Amino acid sequence: QDPRIKGIAASIRVVPDFPKKGIMFQDITTLLLEPEAFKNTVDLFVERYSGKNISVVAVGRAHSLTALPSQTYRFNMCFIIVGSFACLMIDLHQWKTAKGIEARGFIFGPPIALAIGAKFVPLRKPRKLPGEVISERYVLEYGTDCLEMHVGAIQPCDRALVVDDLVATGGTLRAAMNLLERAGAEVVECACVIELPELKGRDRLNGKPLYVLMESR
Ligand code: PRP
Ligand code: MG
Repeated sequence: QDPRIKGIAASIRVVPDFPKKGIMFQDITTLLLEPEAFKNTVDLFVERYSGKNISVVAVGRAHSLTALPSQTYRFNMCFIIVGSFACLMIDLHQWKTAKGIEARGFIFGPPIALAIGAKFVPLRKPRKLPGEVISERYVLEYGTDCLEMHVGAIQPCDRALVVDDLVATGGTLRAAMNLLERAGAEVVECACVIELPELKGRDRLNGKPLYVLMESR
């Protein structure tokens, strides 16, 4: 294991029973207070993905929609057919894209994208993107979530890296992957700082590789 990972892990605060009882919340805000740990985190991903002709880094997160009235739900279903969104950076020689999933994914995606010369495509909550979007709705234990990406942000030639801070059930990464693949991109890998292995999110990624720096404490 890279020696930098120990320091990164030590900088992440674990908050018991947040946001509800039984959850050990992995708080990356304390990592951000330590410039060396933050830099090392970004560097580890940059070292892994530099020179790999990576097209997209995506980070972001969906919006929890619980117990929606059926009218609202139908509206949202229609919205899905129209749209979706991602974030990209362009290299002169090849399309490179970094996609980020809001909100915590937006912390790690952009510096990785800049460093590897990839475009950054943000995946956002419904109704936040002004242009035409494609949407991906997915089912949670209670309710559903939805991610959107701008049409045209991703080209069929893009090789995409999906970035988020943490993988739990894998639902968020899976929705991001679906959006990218619907837009014609090839998802090369998903990358997260932390994995909660007991939730087996890795198994929901359709066999796509998942790279993480550490498992949760
Ligand atoms: C958290 C985390 C991941 C997602 C992982 O986001 O940042 O995006 O959950 O969960 P999953 O693997 O079960 O899909 P959250 O919804 O808390 O929102 P935030 O990033 O805006 O804080
Ligand atoms: Mg998130």
